[in-house]
Amino acid sequence: MPYNAAMAIIAVAGRKGGIGKSTIAGNLAGEFVYLGRSVVVLDADPQHSIAEWSEQGEGLLAQCVLKIEGGQPGVVKANAKAAAASADMVIIDTPPGMPDVIYEAAMVADLVLLPCGPSHLDLFPLKSAIALTLKARAARRSKKPRVRLVPSKVSMNTNLGRSLQSSLEERMGKKVMPPISQRVIVAEAVASGYTMREYAPNSPSAAEFLALAKAADRLSRR
Ligand SMILES: Nc1ncnc2c1ncn2[C@@H]1O[C@H](COP(=O)(O)OP(=O)(O)OP(=O)(O)O)[C@@H](O)[C@H]1O
Ligand SMILES: [Mg+2]
Repeated sequence: MPYNAAMAIIAVAGRKGGIGKSTIAGNLAGEFVYLGRSVVVLDADPQHSIAEWSEQGEGLLAQCVLKIEGGQPGVVKANAKAAAASADMVIIDTPPGMPDVIYEAAMVADLVLLPCGPSHLDLFPLKSAIALTLKARAARRSKKPRVRLVPSKVSMNTNLGRSLQSSLEERMGKKVMPPISQRVIVAEAVASGYTMREYAPNSPSAAEFLALAKAADRLSRR
């Protein structure tokens, strides 16, 4: 059944490094293309990890990733608006250490996804990212952006991992999206230049990214 696309902007953000933001942003792109959407990924991280990922192979990311200089004021907003004019879904990958970039992304996004892990040490940067997003929402005088936590790199063979969804919801007071498990195959796909959908479409990891994409799709419609 063809999707009747409603344009949406999704930012993937957080103050903690290495928690899986870029991995989630790139794989969401893969799943949205699978769902029949046209996608632009804005790589607003000066480290340009998604662009590097896309340059490893000739997968779909090679077609849809755009490097932008997120550190310059107004650049995220201008590029997001421009991309939204031609694509069904715009995904913004943001760096952990630049609150201004996260704020600017939250000023244009319909949905902000905040990947997070099970450690108590993750909660402080998570609170800071939630506060930035809520500040943007107040400035917009809007219900946008919606904010959701994404359990990321979860070890499902530990109690901490399995209970992450409910514990996050309780402790942070924000709704939680379907989780992404820690699996070697996720890192392998990145190293090969492909999204999970291309690299291993029948894997449990591809199914997880699809579940996340469908949930994000429902939430981000205008
Ligand atoms: N679900 C997963 N399973 C296994 N490895 C993962 C998973 N998600 C991410 N990784 C690995 O963890 C590392 C960090 O991931 P990623 O670059 O996506 O994080 P990030 O939050 O974007 O980092 P940064 O803050 O530096 O931008 C990478 O080596 C990546 O391959
Ligand atoms: Mg990153």
